[in-house]
Amino acid sequence: MSVFETVAIALWAMLPAYVPNNAAVLAGGGRPIDGGRTWNGKRVLGDGKTWRGTAAGILAGAALALALNAVAPSASELVGVDLPAFPLAAALALSAGAMAGDVAASFLKRRTGRERGAAFPGLDQLDFVAFALLFAFAAAPAWTGDVFTLPVLAVVFVATPLLHLATNGVAYQLGLKDEPW
Ligand code: CTP
Ligand code: MG
Repeated sequence: MSVFETVAIALWAMLPAYVPNNAAVLAGGGRPIDGGRTWNGKRVLGDGKTWRGTAAGILAGAALALALNAVAPSASELVGVDLPAFPLAAALALSAGAMAGDVAASFLKRRTGRERGAAFPGLDQLDFVAFALLFAFAAAPAWTGDVFTLPVLAVVFVATPLLHLATNGVAYQLGLKDEPW
């Protein structure tokens, strides 16, 4: 597989996991998932993880995967790479996994004394990728194994932090996000 093919498949296959975080920023608000509860004097998750943001994120990621399925043949022809379609289980797992990773990261941040919005370099950029891939491997093992070969995984783990920093920087400049990470 050429480098171009590897990068194209990595970005395409991860799109349903990239979108949920951004959709959550746009749609977030309302009741926090932890209902304001604390654990050892610190919030369990914090006000930055809401039901509405999480639900919107999962729906946006899954909807994007279905939209990608519709355009997969023409997109594949356009770039000259066989881009995979997403089985429903994989679509849901990638987007729900991304949201779960984000929530898990907030849980860890609160346990380590970081306030809402504090940066946790590394975790902030890769939490959602790791969980999206774990969820996908659990929900659609054959598909995930076929698509996420070792070279594709390598590209995902290098390109994702860069993309994440870039999109969050843009969201910050647009005033959508309070911090650029
Ligand atoms: N958001 C949400 N629900 C989620 C994830 C995000 O409502 N599951 C919204 C919140 O309004 C949040 C914003 O998107 O403030 C930015 O997301 P993020 O950076 O993940 O949250 P932070 O506010 O920085 O909180 P934390 O320190 O817990 O990451
Ligand atoms: Mg944040």
